[in-house]
Amino acid sequence: MIRIILIGFMGAGKTTVGKALSQSLGLPFYDLDWYIEDRYRKTISQLFAEKGEEGFRKIEKDILNEVAEFEDVIISCGGGTPCFFDNMDYMNRQAQTIYLKASPEVLYRHLKMGKVERPLLKDKTEAEMKQFIRDMLKTREPFYSRAQYTLNVNLLENYDKIKDSVRLLRELLNI
Ligand code: S3P
Repeated sequence: MIRIILIGFMGAGKTTVGKALSQSLGLPFYDLDWYIEDRYRKTISQLFAEKGEEGFRKIEKDILNEVAEFEDVIISCGGGTPCFFDNMDYMNRQAQTIYLKASPEVLYRHLKMGKVERPLLKDKTEAEMKQFIRDMLKTREPFYSRAQYTLNVNLLENYDKIKDSVRLLRELLNI
């Protein structure tokens, strides 16, 4: 049985790499944020606005507990998922966990390229965003580094780069 969970900061490429890995392995892919949006029929931004971050984290935990029971799946979670409750312990028990590790510069460039609306970043200037990434990464790194595997990711600017990450990931996990 294969169950892989990708973790890492916003903009690390969890969804992009997760989707490509699932295609490469012929396994279904679940993105926790998408699953939440589908279940609640609301965007992550709407849930943050309506329930506050605390309410969102409870929903996120409940959905994680559901999705991480599925078998033969690739799962990508939100950047904050490993950092609340006992989520990191739970994920390590349930799955092979992989930290997609990227530098603040790469994270910033991915986040600028991406179109996803992220409530924690909205209304920030470029300088504020860069500072936020550096500060938040420091706080979150201790959680992320508890993953069973770490894959360093550089700028995923084209499909070849994504394919390279998938190849490295498959080598790392021997699958
Ligand atoms: C968050 C990351 C987002 C999403 C929410 C909060 C975070 O997911 O869950 O906006 O706390 O880092 P991505 O990492 O997929 O952007």
